[in-house]
Amino acid sequence: MQKLAVLTSGGDAPGMNAAIRAVVRTAIYYNLEVYGVERGYAGLIEGSFRKMNLGSVADIIQRGGTILHTARSKEFTTENGREKALQKLREKGIEGLVVIGGDGSLRGALALAELGVSVIGIPGTIDNDIVGTDFTIGFDTAVNVVVEAINRARDTATSHERTFIIEVMGRNSGWIALQAGLAGGAESILVPEFPPDFDKVVQKLMNGIKRGKKHSIIIVAEGAGSAYEVSKEIEKRIDLETRVVVLGHIQRGGTPTALDRVIASKMGGMAVELLRKGETKVMTAVTGNNIITVPLKVVTNGKKALDLAAYNLAGILAI
Ligand code: F6P
Repeated sequence: MQKLAVLTSGGDAPGMNAAIRAVVRTAIYYNLEVYGVERGYAGLIEGSFRKMNLGSVADIIQRGGTILHTARSKEFTTENGREKALQKLREKGIEGLVVIGGDGSLRGALALAELGVSVIGIPGTIDNDIVGTDFTIGFDTAVNVVVEAINRARDTATSHERTFIIEVMGRNSGWIALQAGLAGGAESILVPEFPPDFDKVVQKLMNGIKRGKKHSIIIVAEGAGSAYEVSKEIEKRIDLETRVVVLGHIQRGGTPTALDRVIASKMGGMAVELLRKGETKVMTAVTGNNIITVPLKVVTNGKKALDLAAYNLAGILAI
């Protein structure tokens, strides 16, 4: 393999830049030519390649977002779109591609690999909803942003003796809500994986009030319902003053944590090693303290389960 390319696709995630840097620098270390594809699969279809050198990835390890930009490409989900992308890679003589993104992007990676290009996936999404890996790049940073927000909300909640309902990202997955809720000591955590039990939520609030608690925090993943609706349901059942905070895209920005940078660097380096060995159709993944590979077929075939033990523990700790 002489030429390879790297792209970021889907929702951006803090740490993607660290992964791009690792791909580029590892490739150059092995005297390979390396290109960045701009705007994910949309840019690939247009042949939007940027030749990368050591300097093109300088001073980015600490930056959120992605220097290559990203997109959610409808065209690439069609056979015609993928054929166009393949054509652009062939014209440029690129034999290997590293795709950094979430579940949709990894499905696209497999589809492209099935056309004959060597493709390695790297899980990059704040949602942590990718099968086969303990962590996705960006998750730890997003969780820390939410925990910081919980801390801030708690100060004012205590002062005014209020209940705060904080909505976090996660259309189909409660990982951010659960991890941040556990770390932030939330009274209740509502996730898309389980139907909300408002009577239980209110019972917990009443228990807290009886014990003299001055504030309460409820975390809602966006896929479990809107925080405004949760607030209405609570106020219907109990005479409490609530306030709503919707964190939105703030969770996707900012400097990546050390953990995200380290995972991204290891995965980026490994992706190039795998391409050099002739591997394809696999994703780099974290399991315990190791980085391993998981077949993209496995990754794209299932739904990652929520950590049930952590979910139950959060319930026990917030009696
Ligand atoms: O997949 C990452 C994510 O941030 C989800 O948590 C969220 O539901 C979605 O992207 C938002 O997408 P967009 O930025 O396209 O509005």
